[in-house]
Amino acid sequence: MTIRVPERDAAAIPLWNDAYDTTAVQGTGNLWGDPPVPHAAIAAEVFAASGAAVILDLPCGDGRNLPALAPGAPILLAGDTSRNAMVIAERVTEKAGIRDKVVFLEVDAFATGLLDNSVDGVFCWDLLGHLTEPEHALRELHRIVRPGGHIVANMWTMNDCQVSDPNIKEIADKEYIDHFDFYCRFYDREDLDALLRSVHMPAGSVEVSRWWEPPHAGYRDYEHEHESLIFTIQKNGS
Ligand SMILES: C[S@@+](CC[C@H](N)C(=O)[O-])C[C@H]1O[C@@H](n2cnc3c(N)ncnc32)[C@H](O)[C@@H]1O
Repeated sequence: MTIRVPERDAAAIPLWNDAYDTTAVQGTGNLWGDPPVPHAAIAAEVFAASGAAVILDLPCGDGRNLPALAPGAPILLAGDTSRNAMVIAERVTEKAGIRDKVVFLEVDAFATGLLDNSVDGVFCWDLLGHLTEPEHALRELHRIVRPGGHIVANMWTMNDCQVSDPNIKEIADKEYIDHFDFYCRFYDREDLDALLRSVHMPAGSVEVSRWWEPPHAGYRDYEHEHESLIFTIQKNGS
């Protein structure tokens, strides 16, 4: 099957790559900061509980969630379209002492090139809300997860801090363009349910979660509080 990557989503890929500063020294060089999002450790427990051998963090960005995901399986694939991000992510894994179990892959969430049913779990954080047609990426993630395996992902809600950022511009109901020209779509529960219905992937669990993040140097220069719908999809079969 040929997968068409939506135009705006394809155009964002080089912009993302440019957003990462690979010249910054270790410890101050990661755009998103060191603390993992709280749900990364919970996802690792979900993966480990189902006996995962290989899990994928897609997109891994510059690696903040990799140390928390590492206990989830013996092999941790870390994928992103940004090579710059993964240069920094590699340093993060070295610092965390987990470099030996991580394999970095340049992959597009719309077309990973991985075989059907080839991974036991996927952690997909802060990507789907940036996509104008997330259903295509969801189908791809579902294709590569083995029956019985899990996708753990999030969608920002309208209570997320980004909605009140002074530099974000509304372009339609719940759709915005941020100051880096990245598309951002915010979801309420009905929107998420409709999206998952459209791809025939009922969520095993959905929860609303709020957490604080430190400033992201050069991107969001203030401490901020996110709110997301966090959902888990378990692929049918075992
Ligand atoms: C907001 S960051 C989130 C990174 C990471 N999940 C985290 O929580 O720190 C979004 C990431 O998605 C990557 N990205 C954008 N479009 C992508 C695509 N089509 N496939 C894979 N990664 C993509 C960007 O390069 C960027 O690293």
